[in-house]
Amino acid sequence: MQTATRSELVRALPKVELHVHLEGTIQPHTAVDLARKNSVSLPAFDSVEDLYSYSDLADFLVIYTALAKSVVEVDDFRRITYEMLQSASSNGARHVEFFISPHAHDGIPFSVQFEGIVKGMTDAETDFGVRSAIVPGINRELGPAAAEEYLDEILANRCDQLLGIGLDYYEAPYPPEPFAEVFARARRNGLHLTAHAGEAGPAAYVRSSIDVLKVDRIDHGYNILEDPDLVARCRESGIMFTCCPSTTTHTTSARDLSAPDHPIRRMKEAGLVVSINSDDPPMFRTDLGKEYEAAMDVLGFGPADMKRSILASIEHSWMDDATKKLWRSEWDAEIDRILDQMA
Ligand code: ADE
Ligand code: ZN
Repeated sequence: MQTATRSELVRALPKVELHVHLEGTIQPHTAVDLARKNSVSLPAFDSVEDLYSYSDLADFLVIYTALAKSVVEVDDFRRITYEMLQSASSNGARHVEFFISPHAHDGIPFSVQFEGIVKGMTDAETDFGVRSAIVPGINRELGPAAAEEYLDEILANRCDQLLGIGLDYYEAPYPPEPFAEVFARARRNGLHLTAHAGEAGPAAYVRSSIDVLKVDRIDHGYNILEDPDLVARCRESGIMFTCCPSTTTHTTSARDLSAPDHPIRRMKEAGLVVSINSDDPPMFRTDLGKEYEAAMDVLGFGPADMKRSILASIEHSWMDDATKKLWRSEWDAEIDRILDQMA
């Protein structure tokens, strides 16, 4: 019998993915296929490497939004969802809470988007056993009035698989406060809440996402390190930060994952609850397995840190309590066994 490689063992670790954007998971060949079928033009590129290189977050978001326009019909949404979950599952994910960017498919009705996405989720659960949930991301750049309209559409087309909303796109100068009303209305309607903060914006945006938007989780959060009092508060409250190692090397000033002061390393060392996620994997030339490898091999996550992080991602997911309890107890020994093999 062949022994598993380290990389295979990392992939075998059971995982919950809490921070991945559906439109950021479109494989380049799928985007090309769909664009051709739907007569949509993609940005000009000589090679995928050329298309997928960005100077910063704003630059990345332009390409992200352009690629999303290749997705038009119900079956296109089914396909990209199925492919995203197939890849997540092959990297060990058993539950995936994924963002979608409904505004980026200008004019495609939410009913069409959701129909295809739910088909993809159902097919992937049947074929790979992976569970998943939809989290529409509100594009902060479009402002609070558009956000209210998006929430109207989300609620009008709501399905059981839709568990919460997020807030994404470029942070500064789009602070969280103007979205207080729309987030409060989402919460009153039983939706969970999360927000991108502290990626390109200041620690103050992490603070107001918690205090004003009343989010359950923070996506990224790196710039919280500017504010030691807030770090102490978040350590105390145990709020989850969904971190994405490769993203930091493209969209933040923390370009070197091996730097001793990399923010994800420092957040973990400061005792914050951190999970490892893939964000926009093909667009950042990564996948969930590689992100876990980066955490363990470069960012200083030892076996105990990794186990704590995985169990926390079950705990801070929006799955039902019975499943969380079952998975926490079942995964405990499974994680230990795989980590022991890696030692
Ligand atoms: N949408 C997709 N990826 C994103 C990121 N890293 N930050 C903000 N918005 C995003
Ligand atoms: Zn993100």
